[in-house]
This record gives sequence, structure tokens and C-alpha cells, in this order.
Amino acid sequence: MKMTNIFCLFFLIITPFFAFAQGEKTDLMPIPAQMQWQEGKFRLDRNFALSLNGTFADRLFGASSRFLRRLETRTGLFLKQGFISKKDNLASANLQIQVQKAGELKLHEDESYEIEIQNQKILISANTDLGVLRAFESVLQVIKADAEGYFFPCGKINDQPRFAWRGLMIDVARHFMPIEVIKRNLDAMAAVKLNVFHFHLTDNQGFRIESKTFPKLHELGSDGEYYTQTEIKEIVKYAADRGIRVVPEFDLPAHATAWLLAYPELGSKDTIIDPERKAGIFDPVLDPTNEKVYDFLDKLFAELFPLFPDLYVHIGGDENEAGRHWTENAQIQKFMKDNKIADNHALQAYFNQRMLKIFAKFNKKMVGWEEIMHPNVPTEAVIHSWFGKESLFKAAQKGYPTILSNGYYIDLMFSVTSHYLNDPILPEGAKMTDLEKSRILGGEATMWSELVSPHTIDSRIWPRMIAIAERFWSPAHVNDVEDMFRRMEILSIRLEEFGLNHIKNRDVILRNLAGGSANIEALKVLADVIEPMKKYSRNPKGELYTMLSPLTLMADAANADAPAARKFKILSENYLKKPNEADKAEIMKYLALWKNNHAEIAELCKKSPALREMEKLSENLSLISGLALEILTKEKTNRGEKILKTSSLLFEEARKQGGRTELQVVDAIENLLK
Ligand code: ACM
Repeated sequence: MKMTNIFCLFFLIITPFFAFAQGEKTDLMPIPAQMQWQEGKFRLDRNFALSLNGTFADRLFGASSRFLRRLETRTGLFLKQGFISKKDNLASANLQIQVQKAGELKLHEDESYEIEIQNQKILISANTDLGVLRAFESVLQVIKADAEGYFFPCGKINDQPRFAWRGLMIDVARHFMPIEVIKRNLDAMAAVKLNVFHFHLTDNQGFRIESKTFPKLHELGSDGEYYTQTEIKEIVKYAADRGIRVVPEFDLPAHATAWLLAYPELGSKDTIIDPERKAGIFDPVLDPTNEKVYDFLDKLFAELFPLFPDLYVHIGGDENEAGRHWTENAQIQKFMKDNKIADNHALQAYFNQRMLKIFAKFNKKMVGWEEIMHPNVPTEAVIHSWFGKESLFKAAQKGYPTILSNGYYIDLMFSVTSHYLNDPILPEGAKMTDLEKSRILGGEATMWSELVSPHTIDSRIWPRMIAIAERFWSPAHVNDVEDMFRRMEILSIRLEEFGLNHIKNRDVILRNLAGGSANIEALKVLADVIEPMKKYSRNPKGELYTMLSPLTLMADAANADAPAARKFKILSENYLKKPNEADKAEIMKYLALWKNNHAEIAELCKKSPALREMEKLSENLSLISGLALEILTKEKTNRGEKILKTSSLLFEEARKQGGRTELQVVDAIENLLK
């Protein structure tokens, strides 16, 4: 056994005993592979300085400077070091950083690191500067304070990711996201050690990247909202500086309305193409039997691929299952017959084979949604599973590298718990061979943007993305949900340092809803117990919201995991398990708050018509809370039972949506009464 392995084994064995030697739980997120804490503190003062030693990419200078500035933000210390340069390699510095080589932004690059915090010194060592970037985030998360000032607890962290592909997809086609939105989300991604930004650039509703070769694409397909090539380079550089790969997606052959607005002759049906403003699955699709399509894409990709240095490009490939325009086109049908192409899926595989040739010409590997999997598509393509995990396992067994997004659709507004406990391998994949498991590269959360604006997108990504990032990075056994919530809430606030508005913008929406008033206390109480409707139920058949609809109402202020509802559920469950006066008093406090809140909401509704869609829901909350209060007060009499018998209708009413939100405390209150 090599020395390093013995060292690791030692860590593994002692970790459970020393992990919380300080009698505290760690706040780190993602939790590192191994850590060990000791007595002792490294005291931070303005003489704190870092030294860069060894060989590394230039990104480490900027990253080190940002690390110091963030340390200053947290502590208010006026540190002496400014911008870090080659000169900053002083033996006297108390943070010594040792790097072996420049990290490459590629799949499976080494991101491991070690941190050792001693009383007078901190050592970070890593094989690549990417490891140092990950280490910086861990150091920033263990900073603590006491009466004497700020300090780092003494200890050791030895860490590396479980999965190589840890991504977030942002759809900028449905709603365009200005460059500053992308940048602040890249900062936050780096803070939780994510390393792939999947940039969904084109879809039916928008073509969001400038093409100089075919300018009609962005001119006609974006309503003027697109990234110039200079901006794309800026984003790619910003990501690279943070150790994040950028994988662009050009979703084809379907999801192509915006392309066909500009070049209808590339489509499969001679029909009028209008800008798509709705959400849903649409028919416009490129004609894979038309040679001009391949000439066009060859020229376009010759222009656009070089903007993205990553080896991988996403071809989309999803949701052409009906392939109606192919079926309705006699010439396409003849082509299929002549070439013995059995069905639309095989025709899409033919398209992908042609695309693979173009990709190969530009030294790119293909990623595609699971629909690209077909016997005629070689196993060098990466299969992106979204429908169900079955496709992930099937792909791995067939020899494809594969990534998981099923279970990480954060646009559907599910609880973070469901995402957190969704493991890319376990439990179903445990029986696969090691080789098959190794083909599961990791996962990506998907932020589809039908129902988000630049003002709300942060609150749909964060804080849940923090927990998903932990799933991708930390050992599989890290799965304590309550502790995840505790740590996620801490880090969520820290992420505000990047300008993310996931917390503060709720109040901005509420002030607008209150008719421009700062008096939003009652609205906050309501927002704390509701969640937006889940899955696609908020926009049934895509008929209510278009891409121009307001995203400024209560459903947009509400978030997944309504905080008061979650606390009340835990409280009431504990109380039911073990009735006690303290819990009961707190339960009564909540119920009184909710009962009395409605008077204020009713007043606001008079002045603010936009709020009225919430009035009934707020009243129902008041009624069930009042009922529960009454029964809890009189629980020793049998009047409670009588009320309960007549109340089931009331609870049924309270379960109905209001303003496309749902009350999250109905079950807990009802269980309490039962
Ligand atoms: C997808 O959600 N259509 C990949």
C-alpha cells in the first residue's frame, strides 16, 4: 500500500471519532470526503497573508485575490494583501498554498485538495489549482467567531468529488438572462464546488447567441435579447476562472421554432412560423433529409464552436417523439423508405450520425438528452437522462457515458429533500458492475425558464442547488436531511455576497403587491406557508402563462420548502409523538398568527387588486387555524370532536390553490386535530 493510501485509511478510520471533536456539527457544504477537527484556533487578523507556491494556471492569482476580499467581507478586517501576483510567495505568509500543476478544464480533472489548519499556519495542497479553488470555498465555510474575534478551528480536511460532472443547466431561451445573472450564478456554483455550466442557448422561444455568419438567427429569433460573441467569451472566461466548464446547448432537430423564424427553408413543413410565446412541445423541426441543413450547421458550428473551449457540446435532441412534421412530409417519408429508415426515432439517429461527423470535424464530443440513444448512435456520445433513471442505467449498461437530470428538475418546485435523496447510482444502480457505474459521470440540475425572470431565477435555483451540489460531491452516505437543511440555510445567506437575490427579492415582490407599500408583514406571514404549484400544474397545457406574462405575483414570491410550514410540520409531529406544554405553546403561537393574519390581508386586498386571488386562501388559513386553536384549547371536552366532524369540508377548501400557490400547513393542522 502506498503511503498516501495508508494516510487515507487512517483518516477514514479516525474520522467518525474526531469529526466533531469540538462538540459542534460542521457547517461545511458539501461535506468533505474526510475531515478531522482538533482543539486549537488559528486567529485571523489583518496580518493574514497567503503565499502561492508551485506550478498553476493564472486563474489562481485572481481566485486568491477574490478569496481575500471575501474574507474581508466576512470579517471587516483590512487585510494588507491586495491583488495577488507572482510576488506573493513569501515563506512568512501564514496561509501556504502548494500546487503541483495547472488544472485543465476537462472531464475527470483532479479537483482534490488537502487543508491543514494549525494554530499559527494554514496549509493548502492540491495537485491542480482547481483543487485550490475548491479548498478556498471550504476554508471560507469554516470561519468562526468568538469574543476575541474571528478564527479557523484547527483540523484537517482531505477531499475530492464523488462525481466528475456536477452541473447546473440554465435555460436562457424561454426567458433571457442578462450576463450579470449568469455571472452571479457562476459565483454561487463555484461556492458549492459545481464544475459544469450547461448553457441552454436555443429553443423554440429564443435563439440567444450572436451569429455573424447567419445574423438572422439572433436578429429574428431573440427579440433583441441575445449574447454577443464578446459576451459569450466573457462568460466562458468568468466560468473558467472559477473552475467551471461551459457546455453550450444547441437544441436540435426539434425545439427549433426560433431557428426556422429566420430560415424556414430548413424546416420540415411549408408553413408560417410565428415567434413562439407559449410553453409546451411544438412541431417545428429541421428536415434531416435536406443537405442544406448540414451545410448550414457546418458553417454555423465552425463559427460558434470555437467560442466554447470545452470538449463537449449538447445537441439537445429531446421531444421530437411525435415528429409530426416529418410524418406529414411526403418527401421525408420517401427518403425514409428509400434509405430503410424505420421510424422517426431512426431518422433522428440518422440526423445525429450526420451531426457527429460535424462534431468530429471540430473536435467536439456530443451530449444529448436521452432521446438520442439509438443503436446507430455510437457510445462516444454522452446520454443525458431526464425522463427517468432507467435511461441512465440503460445507457451505462450499453457503454455510453451518462449524466442524470431526472430528479433534479428544480423548475418543478419540489422540496429540496426529494432532490437531495435522489442519488445518481443508489439504490437501484448498486448491482451494476464497477465499469458500468464508472460511466455514470454525475448529474445536472435543470433550471428551465418558462416561469422565471431575471428577478426570480435566483430563488428557484438557490438554496436547493446547494443540497444537490452536495449530492454530486460528497460521499453517498452523507444523507441526513435535517442536517442538510441546517447547513443549507447557513450557506444560503452566505451566497448573498455574490449579489444573488434569492432571499431579498421576495420582499421586493411583496412590496409591489402591497401597492408600493413597505408594510408587508402580513404578506410575509402568508408567503412563509405557501408554495408555488408543482410540476406543470401552475401553467396547465401552457395556456395561462406566455413568455411575456407577469412573474411578479404571490406564486413568484413563494418558494419551494415554505419555511414556516416546514417548521410547523416538525413541531406538530414532535408534539404528537410526545405531547408537551412547550411545543403546544409554540403551536398555538403559530395558529394565532395565522388566524389573525387574514384581517390585514383582507385590508391589503382592498387596495391591491393583484392580491385578491390570494384572499380566499388566506381566509381558509385563518379559518383552519382558528378551528385548531379552539380545539387545542378545549381538547379535554368533546366539543373538539364535534367541530372536527364538521370541519372536513373546511380542510378540503383549504387544500385548493389560490393565485397558483398551495397552502402547506393543511395536513399538519388536520393531523394535529385527528
Ligand atoms: C427536457 O426536459 N425536455 C429535456
